[in-house]
Amino acid sequence: MNSTIIGVGASLPLRCMRNSDLPGDLDTSDEWILQRTGIAQRHIADGETTSLLATRAARNALIHAKISPQDVDLVLVATSTGDYTLPATATLVQRNLGLRGAAFDVNAVCSGFIFALDVADSFIKSGKFRCALVIGAETFSRIVDWSDRSTCVLFGDGAGAVVLRAIDDDERGVIFCKIHSDGNYAHQLITDGGVSTTKDAGLLKMSGREVFKFAVEKFHESLMELLAENQMTVADVDLLVPHQANVRIIKKLVELSGVDERKVLVTLDKHANTSAASIPLALNEVKNTVFSAKNVVLLSMGAGFTWGSALIRFQ
Ligand code: COA
Repeated sequence: MNSTIIGVGASLPLRCMRNSDLPGDLDTSDEWILQRTGIAQRHIADGETTSLLATRAARNALIHAKISPQDVDLVLVATSTGDYTLPATATLVQRNLGLRGAAFDVNAVCSGFIFALDVADSFIKSGKFRCALVIGAETFSRIVDWSDRSTCVLFGDGAGAVVLRAIDDDERGVIFCKIHSDGNYAHQLITDGGVSTTKDAGLLKMSGREVFKFAVEKFHESLMELLAENQMTVADVDLLVPHQANVRIIKKLVELSGVDERKVLVTLDKHANTSAASIPLALNEVKNTVFSAKNVVLLSMGAGFTWGSALIRFQ
């Protein structure tokens, strides 16, 4: 028994903020942001909550999968910007779509989608559930410090979702998923303001250079681990979807690994870094390519630090 992706959907807030639309007192420029990050614009929630974006993305994924909501028995939302401290955003999505079964959130920040995919895949392989909505949804615009040019320009809001269903085929579907964390790096990328430490809502703080270096190292290490454990080479990768943080991180990965740049998906120019939503949002951009590919590889790195990889075989 394996699990496989049978539908993809996404949702973005209506408001699109180009680099030139950023607050005038920010002392930055379109040129700097494009050159140093590859980001041209991001979507910013104006009243759209994380659960609303997640619900819309999930609904679109169900339509794409052509299945009834009644078939879903598990809802996972990867997010670190949920609507409430409790309950989980996943339960709000479950209510909005009238779904049954179990619903809970997974917080592994920018690696959240791969962590949630691993959880859903493991549940399906164990026989506990048969059909999961795995959603990445974030509203980072609510936690960035809009006076800090080194962080606020990097992030955007949005949601992406996949429908993951059991298949009686060991050759296709989620072939490999590996997740890692190292809490020694917790303070390198942090949003304080947790309810047990303070009453104030927190703001995101980041040691940009350290995060950059770690992301390059872990993207490369995770890709090599995935290839070795599946007796593959970079030539066997048909589509590589890395977490969308900075195009220079992705270029370094291309340089180090030798993977063909044309097979590497870059969508951060349009969405910026949407944390847990970035991978499913990117998958949604190239739906047809995804479903006709043989080996699709996902890579992530996020606060914690957390990192991980997944191999999904569609043909
Ligand atoms: N506009 C103009 N200048 C900016 C700027 C901006 N938006 N942000 C930073 N700068 C300035 C800095 O203040 C610094 O100026 P100084 O030399 O006068 O002190 C200069 O640019 C260089 O800063 P540096 O931090 O070395 O830039 P960088 O090339 O490393 O790029 C990041 C900064 C944040 C874009 C980069 O480090 C990065 O992408 N890190 C990883 C971030 C990430 O992916 N996080 C999420 C992981 S899930």
